[in-house]
Amino acid sequence: MKILITAGPTREKIDEVRFISNRSSGRMGYALAAAAAAAGHQVTLVSGPVSLPEPEGVETVKTESAAEMAKAVFSRFGGCNAVIMAAAVADYRPAEIIHGKLKKSGDLELRLVRTQDILLELGRRKQHQRLIGFAAESENLLASAADKLKRKNLDWIAANLVADGFAGETDRITLLGRNGERIAIPVGPKTEIAPVILKTVLN
Ligand code: CTP
Repeated sequence: MKILITAGPTREKIDEVRFISNRSSGRMGYALAAAAAAAGHQVTLVSGPVSLPEPEGVETVKTESAAEMAKAVFSRFGGCNAVIMAAAVADYRPAEIIHGKLKKSGDLELRLVRTQDILLELGRRKQHQRLIGFAAESENLLASAADKLKRKNLDWIAANLVADGFAGETDRITLLGRNGERIAIPVGPKTEIAPVILKTVLN
């Protein structure tokens, strides 16, 4: 299968040297990409800025902002059999990028505007492709994840608590499927969980 996987955070520029981002390490997306390539799939990894080595046998496309990631994903969507959105895409970006480096003076207010929801858009455009999303929640894990699954027209969603895996090396994932499936994967290293997720969602 041709599989597109996204990973890591995005960076939304404030000025020439500053940005808004999040603590996503990219480990889950990179582990999924490595596992998918090892299973014989043709894999493209669209990655935000992370400090991980590029997985072997994977085409890696580096992006920075949510807008850049969106462009990279949309341009490849037609040729894919499955998309796994493991990236922690920023929900907001500064309304304007300040030219040069901002000089400090008094207090500063930044106006943030919504970024495009890439996965929501893929759910609208979806034809034959399988769509898999992630949900990182701090409460109401399964109810919130089930809501995202439906709202974004996904086939599967991998739900985890922020405290269980957001920036670390291990995770505890529950997979929810569009037909009501619920599969709890025991806590473990992301490198071991990734092949289990793939087996289920690509089956
Ligand atoms: N996602 C995306 N584009 C965005 C934001 C998120 O494609 N601009 C994707 C993520 O890659 C992930 C899923 O959507 O697969 C997460 O859904 P989201 O609704 O963003 O979850 P939260 O960030 O937890 O949002 P909320 O504040 O609604 O709980």
